[in-house]
Amino acid sequence: MAKDTCTLIINGKAHKARLGDTLIDAGLDNRIVLPHDCCSGQCETCRVRVVSGAVDDAGTREKDTVLSCLATVEGDAEISYDPVPIVRNTSGRVEDIEEIAPDLLEVRVRTSKPVPWLPGQYVRMRFKGYPARDYSPTFGLDRSTEQDLLTFQIKVYPNSRVSSALGHGINRDHKVSIKGPYGYAFLRRQPGRIILVSTGTGFAPLWSIAVAATMRRGDQTVQMIAGCRHADDLYMRHAVGWLRDQGVPVTLTASDGDDDAVMTARPQDLLPDLRDSDMVYAAGSPSMVDAVRVRALAQDATFFADPFYAADPGFSLLDRILPRKRRQAEPVA
Ligand code: FES
Repeated sequence: MAKDTCTLIINGKAHKARLGDTLIDAGLDNRIVLPHDCCSGQCETCRVRVVSGAVDDAGTREKDTVLSCLATVEGDAEISYDPVPIVRNTSGRVEDIEEIAPDLLEVRVRTSKPVPWLPGQYVRMRFKGYPARDYSPTFGLDRSTEQDLLTFQIKVYPNSRVSSALGHGINRDHKVSIKGPYGYAFLRRQPGRIILVSTGTGFAPLWSIAVAATMRRGDQTVQMIAGCRHADDLYMRHAVGWLRDQGVPVTLTASDGDDDAVMTARPQDLLPDLRDSDMVYAAGSPSMVDAVRVRALAQDATFFADPFYAADPGFSLLDRILPRKRRQAEPVA
């Protein structure tokens, strides 16, 4: 009779696994919860590294990584992943809503207990009475951070169900429930160059990565490219001054820039030549993220992005066609 089990090594420990099981199921059979969210190949949270052996990647391979909710065990193999904070439910209340640029709010939520998150991760947040949305917690633009306080940068879309209610139906003290954190595009510890590319409020998760990586002053160097549709939308313009003071090259770009302080090229066209030790993070419009992904993988760099899809501004059809993780995004190329 054919053997239907094999050995799967997960983060250095050997376990028995059934052939044909997804890596997530193989982990669960051994009481190991691999990081995950959608379980349908959409969110990237479950991406793990295949160190060696026989894994059917189900078409999800990027360099030596696969999505563990789709990839299956084919024989003896070894996989690894970076530990992340445990997903849990937490309650909170809106502490403050502040306009930091036209149609862009900084929303602070005081939580009933600390919500551990890694720079770059996201949480699923539900303002009481409204549908849940995914947002990335980040540092304040002055780099402030507090225990029990989550800070978000949220773009307001006209006639949207959630963002346009901020400051109207949703005000200070509004109840909030939070689940998370999730996501694969978080700050890693390995040495190398970190290249961050954002459009719109995709800046939020990358700002937290930039600040954390710069503050820890390890053997990582950081470069950042932040784009917006218009120069007036570059709400991070002053905040990135601190990064520049720390020696971090920051390029701002917008279609109506001046090619001096603000470039006019697309963010993906401003990428430097990449090396295989580079870690490239992209967040923002899907077309930009895809372009950066293609370029990073073609040059053998490691690429990180959690998909962004605009859910708020009446995109119900898009949501049905693309039942992907709902993150607030600038819905432009
Ligand atoms: S859990 Fe695998 S892609 Fe979302």
